[in-house]
Amino acid sequence: FNGSSFPEGFIFGTASSSYQYEGATNEGGRGASIWDSFTQRYPDKIKDGKNGLLADDSYHLYKEDVSIMKDIGFDAYRFSISWSRLLPSGNLSGGVNHEGITYYNNLINELQSNGLKPFVTLFHWDLPQALEDTYGGFLNHQIVNDFRDYAELCYKEFGDRVKHWITLNEPQTFTTMGYGNGAFAPGRCSKWLSSKCNEGDSATEPYLVAHHQILAHTAAVKVYKDKYQMSQKGQIGITLNSPWILPYSESTEDKDAASRALAFMYDWFMEPLNSGLYPAEMVAHVHERLPHFSKEQSSMVKGSFDFIGINYYSANYATDGPCEYQQPSYFTDSCINITDERNGIPIGQKAASQWLSIYPQGIQDLLLYTKNKFNNPVIYITENGVDEINNGTISLEDNMRIDYHSSHLSFVQSAIMNGVKVKGYFAWSLLDNFEWADGYTVRFGLVYVDYEDGLKRYPKNSTKWFKKFLNSEKLIY
Ligand code: GCO
Repeated sequence: FNGSSFPEGFIFGTASSSYQYEGATNEGGRGASIWDSFTQRYPDKIKDGKNGLLADDSYHLYKEDVSIMKDIGFDAYRFSISWSRLLPSGNLSGGVNHEGITYYNNLINELQSNGLKPFVTLFHWDLPQALEDTYGGFLNHQIVNDFRDYAELCYKEFGDRVKHWITLNEPQTFTTMGYGNGAFAPGRCSKWLSSKCNEGDSATEPYLVAHHQILAHTAAVKVYKDKYQMSQKGQIGITLNSPWILPYSESTEDKDAASRALAFMYDWFMEPLNSGLYPAEMVAHVHERLPHFSKEQSSMVKGSFDFIGINYYSANYATDGPCEYQQPSYFTDSCINITDERNGIPIGQKAASQWLSIYPQGIQDLLLYTKNKFNNPVIYITENGVDEINNGTISLEDNMRIDYHSSHLSFVQSAIMNGVKVKGYFAWSLLDNFEWADGYTVRFGLVYVDYEDGLKRYPKNSTKWFKKFLNSEKLIY
């Protein structure tokens, strides 16, 4: 690599989320979330049958965690607020839980006094169960107002110190896993994706849920811009995710399939944010099931962000596939088959998670795609990381993680040199944590967490690498 360093002011941090880190789900006045009930109701859907009851206990151990970040030399910490910790019944009429406010005040103040900037995600999938029970959560348009009110409460309480807000995390994942194949909370599945539906069999649900997320995001941004941004002077955005997609062959069919795959995963959200409309490829394939934006909604959605967060981990090949609801696949509607190898050659080395094939160049390709197709927005990489298997013994030798971050960072840097406005990079994750349906069977942390012994934290080798990198000229070799 050519050895130039990252731009002045570029932000480095790590990312986390409330349900994956906090624990203390029954403490401090927190109401239940859909992840509490999902893990309770379907323990068989979680690889080790576990849940976020304890997780990393960051609810109690946050000071230790902040001191680890400071010691490594990070500039920022991305975490999410547990909606039901602030509003146990999901909305303002059910009352504000002041212990919850105190917890986040303490965390934010601890970050600030250690020189770390808070990047706050408002919704990282742990919807208050009360809203699911009363009106079906994101299936119902009512969620738009409740999310806006919750967001406004956060701006009021924390906006004097929080200058970077992220409305939603990975709406695509929440939609496809929560309402497509039922692997994540709230565990509904759709004919769209799976023949094995035990609940919710409407092929329309995922599109409706995505639509309501876009409108909820828009409403939360609008209230920030109308009432808070002038005085608080922060920035607001949304975090999207996509693997990078390569055509399996050079045939026109496969190239079109690759572009449809990106449309159904990424442009689904990026295109409305950019133009106020759903992508043409989606309209062509699922128009009768895709909700419409009214003229007014469309103009509100368009441009409703100061920055785009991108989570990037992996890459796939796409081929043209049959347009039938035969096999359970994310892509049935878009007539695509997705693979992670070509003629027996894998697209990249596999991590512990089956879905994660290491393909560093993909981060640059996704960044350039975003720049070229969507008017060159300001971008933060809000997650990028890799995991190893939890084999029950303490192992701190994570050299593959060092390779992963250094190679991805060098592609981020080359994207910057090609004009992409990337302003920061967050590693997923500081700590090993509750990895959704994989439970605690895989480890994404720079720091090892001993779940067998009091959740003790042990820095892995990658923390040394980051420390050296962050305290140097930030050169990548
Ligand atoms: C997200 C992610 C994280 C995961 C990480 C590794 O959507 O932000 O799902 O919560 O833990 O991506 O899979």
